[in-house]
Amino acid sequence: MPKITFLPTRLSATPITLEIPKGANLMEAATDAGLPMGDACGGNCACASCHVYIIKGFDSLNTLEDQEDDVLGFAEDIREESRLACQVIVGAEDLTIEITDESQVAFANEHPEHREQISPR
Ligand code: FES
Repeated sequence: MPKITFLPTRLSATPITLEIPKGANLMEAATDAGLPMGDACGGNCACASCHVYIIKGFDSLNTLEDQEDDVLGFAEDIREESRLACQVIVGAEDLTIEITDESQVAFANEHPEHREQISPR
């Protein structure tokens, strides 16, 4: 199973590595693991709150489709390695993921019960 490493977040000062089966949805895996990733539209490719950077393994992922590309246009600080996690299907390779600060702030706004755990930057 591919190993997915999430770089430190506002909730964790150390990286978190998960083993996720090939074919899994990246956002569902991250949110199931309690990682601070926004999911405002419920994974329907309509909000960009799940914006992540694919630091390693980008080419092993499914292709970015037109709708994802359009919605990514609403995200802040878009880079070549940007994807919407709700549209990412994990491939056979290990990944390294950075959850954007924008996405972590969206998580805090969507989940007020975790706000006190989210460290400010
Ligand atoms: S959760 Fe809204 S675009 Fe991914």
